[in-house]
Amino acid sequence: MKPDPQQLQQLLAPVQDGMKRMREVIALQLADASPAVRDMVEHVSRFQGKQLRAALVLLCGDASSNSTDEHASIAAVVEMIHLATLVHDDVLDGAKVRRRVACVNERWDNQVAVLFGDYLYARAFALSTDLSSRLCSRVLAEATRRICIGEIEQAASRYDFEMSQERYEWIAGAKTATLYAAACELGARYPGGHESMGANMRQFGYELGLAFQIIDDCLDLTASLEQAGKSVGTDVADGKVTLPVLWAYRRADEARRAQIRDCYTLAGLEDRVARLSEVCELSAGVEFARARANELLRSAVARLALLPPGASRSALESVAGFVLARDH
Ligand code: IPE
Ligand code: IPE
Ligand code: MG
Ligand code: MG
Repeated sequence: MKPDPQQLQQLLAPVQDGMKRMREVIALQLADASPAVRDMVEHVSRFQGKQLRAALVLLCGDASSNSTDEHASIAAVVEMIHLATLVHDDVLDGAKVRRRVACVNERWDNQVAVLFGDYLYARAFALSTDLSSRLCSRVLAEATRRICIGEIEQAASRYDFEMSQERYEWIAGAKTATLYAAACELGARYPGGHESMGANMRQFGYELGLAFQIIDDCLDLTASLEQAGKSVGTDVADGKVTLPVLWAYRRADEARRAQIRDCYTLAGLEDRVARLSEVCELSAGVEFARARANELLRSAVARLALLPPGASRSALESVAGFVLARDH
């Protein structure tokens, strides 16, 4: 249950043909006559992400004996929506690096990045409406709505050091776990029917995705830019109080709490995360958050018992291990 994070591509071997088709579909969908758009597509394609959500569509399809010719296209739609959320998220977070290259907002500017994110959403939904069942459009339109709500609620909760763990998880769930849940549900039940298996895999995806975001929030505090391949420390700089900090804040006395708040708010602080780890029990908070992620992953893996044993089910178990062990 603890693969080397570098081995992700090996884990996805059972669906490598589908992944190749998914990448071809995306390339076709993003081929555009506009030279300016072509420039941006070329820029964001320079480094592929982990493509985990796309892989989940294919693995869940295969593991529940529900693969269709359209699954690679569904995986492409999911991955394009994910990319659109990243392009917009980097504007919101003022991030500079994504997937080891400059963010679109950094390479161009915020206005261009907002428009390019919209362009990606439009291409994704155009592709989904070409599919034979409306289930894909319906599930992903609802997922996109929830991602927006998650990002909006998160923006509304900046600098809220008293936030409950429940609310933190609600926001992380809405902005991130929703798309994982949708990917797994669509894999297991597209083009329709199979409601109970769809609901089971949806739950699997939700818990996996929530754990993924919790680990991401830990990495934002502990990883280097080199390791993560994207800007780190942005959560503290932007007033996002994530689970490790909420945990440490709750345990701190009033004097310490004031110091924690200062790490977020004092103008001109050089390394906010380093300062934070000096004034509070940040590593213990990270450990607490990782334990919570582990608990969610155990619950997610238990849901796989409803699937017949096989290579794809094993790969789904390994993906859960990857999410916990990952460093990027
Ligand atoms: C980043 O997702 C956004 C979060 C939900 C934390 P990934 O880490 O899956 O991004 P890529 O696609 O691999 O770059
Ligand atoms: C992911 O949250 C939000 C999305 C749903 C795109 P983060 O803001 O933590 O993601 P990263 O760390 O920038 O990848
Ligand atoms: Mg971000
Ligand atoms: Mg993050």
